[in-house]
Amino acid sequence: MSTKNKIAAIVLGAGQGTRMKSSKPKVMHEIASRPMVSHLIATLEKVGVEKMTVVIGPSMDCIKDEVAPYTTAVQEKQLGTANAVMSAKGELDGFVGDVIIAYGDSPLVTEETFSKMIEKRNQGASVVVLGFTPIDAGKYGRLVVKAGELDKIVEFKDANEAERAIKLCNSGFMCVDGSILFDMLAKVKNNNAAGEYYLTDIVEIAKSMGLKCGVVEGSEEEFMGANSRSDLAKVEAIVQNRLREKIMDNGVTLINPETVTFAYDTEIANDVVIEPFVVFGKGVKVASNVTIRAFSHLEGATIGAHAEVGPYARLRPQAVLSEGAKIGNFVEIKKSNIGVGTKVNHLTYIGDADVGDKTNVGAGTITCNYDGYNKSRTIIGKDVFVGSNTCFVAPVTVGDGAMTGAGSVITSNVNSDALAISRAKQRDIDGFAPKFRAEKKAEKEAKKLSK
Ligand code: UD1
Ligand code: CA
Repeated sequence: MSTKNKIAAIVLGAGQGTRMKSSKPKVMHEIASRPMVSHLIATLEKVGVEKMTVVIGPSMDCIKDEVAPYTTAVQEKQLGTANAVMSAKGELDGFVGDVIIAYGDSPLVTEETFSKMIEKRNQGASVVVLGFTPIDAGKYGRLVVKAGELDKIVEFKDANEAERAIKLCNSGFMCVDGSILFDMLAKVKNNNAAGEYYLTDIVEIAKSMGLKCGVVEGSEEEFMGANSRSDLAKVEAIVQNRLREKIMDNGVTLINPETVTFAYDTEIANDVVIEPFVVFGKGVKVASNVTIRAFSHLEGATIGAHAEVGPYARLRPQAVLSEGAKIGNFVEIKKSNIGVGTKVNHLTYIGDADVGDKTNVGAGTITCNYDGYNKSRTIIGKDVFVGSNTCFVAPVTVGDGAMTGAGSVITSNVNSDALAISRAKQRDIDGFAPKFRAEKKAEKEAKKLSK
């Protein structure tokens, strides 16, 4: 048997997942900011699967968009797992090689386990089934092994007492010789307790053709499917732990790992310190020696080396911080470039802006980037001093080295090195305060007497 067989995968995902109580198909529910089905696809890609098709139910078009460029095949009615795999036949037309069958709602199966399955297939088994030994075998199908070879799979509903006592269970995942898969499926009948076309029947069919079937075992954790929101949270916890371990292995300090949430694609360089309660959404890249303080929320942001973020900062998509930038508490940055060493330390919104190097943005600064119809940009040069509580009504440009007075509303461009102030001139009324207080006191006394 050649070890260079091409590999295709059929991912079953036609189940709506009623226990999720959702309008979304089950496999579209997200783990670490990515639909379950895409986790599985990413793992399959890593073991060299080059062609994939996902079996979906009618009106599950959202899965089509998610898995592209891979294809989908619609299973009109849920007549069983064999029928589901059969639905993908057209998509694999002309494919020569091995076929992995996987369940789209089991995102935890590892590269190593898939590799073991492929290896066993390369050693000559026509059908390789992935088994596991759960603490509670429950209603899983049971794997009947004779003389080291897989003899058959019995569904719980159809099993006798002795078969139900078997601890080795069927995960449903298989690796099958593609040249015979669909011929075997065509022979599957539905004369069983469920009245379904069982994929598991192909084991006995292969044996009747004089072919070998094998088993490889995975861990129980890998087959934890997400059937309910509670399961989803458990799967999420496992994936988060895997991500935290990987990130710490890369030289990142997590002060309280369990409180930090990552996305599947979070990239963090070494010597970064992350304080407790930080959330990473999709698409965050952090360079080395950055500190991210507690209670910060980051999504689609790129952070340069030696930058400091938070506590309580919010970085939204396309926030780009250059080296040594400082973003402090209650600051939101969106679609903006923040220059080298620039400080935006307190209570500020910077959206659709370019801020140059070594600029200081005072507390309470707001870029007014939206007029209800259009978004406009604010361009602030380098070495600018932005006074506290400045509003920049975009589009507006501020030259290098300029200053704005506190409380100014900046509506037109500011020249380099200029000071822009736009606020009413201060007026002092001497002796006003005691007169005012005396008046108010007298009013209060008069009210009391009239009662
Ligand atoms: C199946 C196996 C059982 C195994 C168990 C592991 C069969 C006959 N039984 O049982 O041995 O222990 O998985 O979880 O294969 N699906 C479709 N179309 C269908 C039916 C199912 O796409 O017509 C998909 C589901 O969305 C799901 C997967 O196939 O992702 C498994 O279906 P499910 O109904 O959960 O299989 P079980 O009966 O639990
Ligand atoms: Ca099931």
